[in-house]
Amino acid sequence: MAEQLSQSELDYPFKLLEYINGFKISKVIFTASQLGVFDLMLQCQKALSAECIAKELHTSQNGLERLLDALVGIDILDVEIINGKALYSSTDVSDLYLAKASPKSLSNMILYQSQDIYPLWNFLPDAVRQGRSQNEKAFGTSSKDTCETPFRCEEELLKFMGMMHSTWVFAAHDVVTAIDLSPFKTVVDLGGCTGTLAREVCLVYPYCSITVFDIPEVVKMAKKHFCGIDDCITFKEGDFFNGELPEANLYILAGIIHGWEEEKCLQLLHKIYAQNKPVEAMLNENRRGPIFSQLLSLNMLLQMEGKERSPSEFFKLLTTAGFKDIQVQRTGKCYDVVLGIK
Ligand SMILES: C[S@@+](CC[C@H](N)C(=O)[O-])C[C@H]1O[C@@H](n2cnc3c(N)ncnc32)[C@H](O)[C@@H]1O
Repeated sequence: MAEQLSQSELDYPFKLLEYINGFKISKVIFTASQLGVFDLMLQCQKALSAECIAKELHTSQNGLERLLDALVGIDILDVEIINGKALYSSTDVSDLYLAKASPKSLSNMILYQSQDIYPLWNFLPDAVRQGRSQNEKAFGTSSKDTCETPFRCEEELLKFMGMMHSTWVFAAHDVVTAIDLSPFKTVVDLGGCTGTLAREVCLVYPYCSITVFDIPEVVKMAKKHFCGIDDCITFKEGDFFNGELPEANLYILAGIIHGWEEEKCLQLLHKIYAQNKPVEAMLNENRRGPIFSQLLSLNMLLQMEGKERSPSEFFKLLTTAGFKDIQVQRTGKCYDVVLGIK
């Protein structure tokens, strides 16, 4: 695969140029989201000129026109030239995933990636040299207590939780249905954050009772910003390292194992006496991808103390913690599932 790529890339390095310029594409999307381009286009539901959009969003026409053209170039907006004038319109993707008013909006994820992850990645060379997180350099927070960064103030915590919510809006169904969970009647989602994944468990398995277990600050914010009336889940405050865990037939650990160093993962896994279901982005055994998981693993280096793992690495971790029957289920999308039974 890599050989084929390098053969054609020797003639003209298209792919390489695309990768080198990749950060500009992220920035185009971040900027358009920040300026409100996608919201305006969803609201108007008709093609608009750059002049009109610039006026509404209080930007320069010169700058905005180039931004709109770049969005057309990556198929996020559409354009038609009528009587020599460019008229821009939204696409299904921008209306569904980029406008803030859409229930599937990724705008919270974009905000977090833009304001927190992007500046952190400036320190990737340091992270690789030193083999540890760079929160201190990027945000002045402790590189030892990696949770301090997202929890440093209410506004940051809400932004972090918004990003986690965005992820599960599109990814929860595949993860929850990857393995049949109907035999499990009581489920605890450890570090379940906003409860978005837990609500999908409720939807797919209506006879299951599900509790989201998280630290008090997060539970408070989840109840305030992410719960509706008649919520099908319950919340419980606690510390999964230092306190008792609520009883359950199944424990979900979504995005938890990849955050901590091996010793802490084992401490938590040993504590879980029944079943356990980590949900993580999994690496390929042959180290050839997927690129989403490889980039997430680098992100974990920059931000936390953990990493992404291949199925055999999960197998080793879970067997060390005493689990016997271990099932790996790839979803073919961003996040995969491992079910371990003790
Ligand atoms: C990366 S987030 C994953 C959130 C959630 N599982 C999801 O996928 O949306 C890690 C979560 O673990 C929680 N957490 C961290 N340390 C914890 C602890 N000691 N006890 C309980 N929850 C904790 C955080 O508050 C956060 O909600």
